[in-house]
Amino acid sequence: MAPWTAANISDLTGRTALVTGANSGLGFETAKALAERGASVILACRDATRCDAAAQRIRQAVPPAQLEQLLLDLSDLDSVRAFADEVGTRHGTLDILVNNAGVMAPPTRLTTKQGFELQFGTNHLGHFALTGLLLPSLMRAAGSRIVTVSSFAHEAGQIDFDDLQRERAYTPYGAYSASKLANLLFMLELDRRLRAADAGTISVGAHPGFANTNLQAAGPFLGTKPLLSWFVLGGVRLMGQSAAQGAEPQLYAATAPGVEGGDYYGPKSRFRGHAAPSTMAPQARDEDAGVRLWDVSERLTGVDMDEAIAP
Ligand SMILES: NC(=O)c1ccc[n+]([C@@H]2O[C@H](COP(=O)([O-])OP(=O)(O)OC[C@H]3O[C@@H](n4cnc5c(N)ncnc54)[C@H](OP(=O)(O)O)[C@@H]3O)[C@@H](O)[C@H]2O)c1
Repeated sequence: MAPWTAANISDLTGRTALVTGANSGLGFETAKALAERGASVILACRDATRCDAAAQRIRQAVPPAQLEQLLLDLSDLDSVRAFADEVGTRHGTLDILVNNAGVMAPPTRLTTKQGFELQFGTNHLGHFALTGLLLPSLMRAAGSRIVTVSSFAHEAGQIDFDDLQRERAYTPYGAYSASKLANLLFMLELDRRLRAADAGTISVGAHPGFANTNLQAAGPFLGTKPLLSWFVLGGVRLMGQSAAQGAEPQLYAATAPGVEGGDYYGPKSRFRGHAAPSTMAPQARDEDAGVRLWDVSERLTGVDMDEAIAP
């Protein structure tokens, strides 16, 4: 059977999708593919110029694309709230949310506006809060989907609940892996709660394998020489699959028929290839850790997700 590609996505006319980190890499390709199939796409980006440039590139490829550009900084919970309010005002329903944006492995411990370790705060807490605040719109849309993007790096992830903000021990990739593990613990806990509430919305996970994007140059070289980051990007370009192919698992999770809550998709051959079911590490399936992370995330963000799930 021919592999699934973005060309298999069915007509999405009349559906609204929101993609975080839509100006670059996987988020850009995801937004473009959804727009190509007729969805109205909200590009959530933290920088207006980069957002405009991405919208222009999508419109060049897909002239009838229906796009909205809205600013969202996931490392600032005030920005997340303002953004979610704006989306809620403009859209009564939301069919697809792709929690895609991410930052990887800055060399030193950085913090979000509210003082959380940057990767945990952006990759997990920012998306946790965003999802909770958008849940009313998502739950009003029949068959809506929330896709959270993780990484094979989650397999090395460990969450230290006594040092969640990595104040005692920061390592760049240790914090990144933990944030990607948090993405999956959240995705599965959300799935369990949506099922318990008999909701029509599903929570699904995806990862791109190893894809040629800006990720490997952006975080690890924050504050260092651009020349070095270009050198690394050159290496990534040689080894990684295209961003378009890397985006296939999250597009599959967001649109393919037969996808169920709690599913996890990635490239067929671990780091590259077309979308296929993927395997989570045992620590991602730890239900106690899922509940504990949920509770602490509600406390840290001030977003009461349970209230939105159980009307
Ligand atoms: N590429 C890979 O091989 C790979 C592998 C495993 C998992 N992933 C995951 O894939 C996802 C997408 O990454 P990518 O590879 O496409 O990298 P990318 O090209 O660097 O894109 C990351 C996106 O996230 C945005 N972002 C970063 N911090 C943000 C913040 N505070 N608020 C809002 N947006 C923010 C970036 O915005 P700016 O452009 O403004 O910085 C950019 O749009 C991430 O979750 C990553 O962990 C990627």
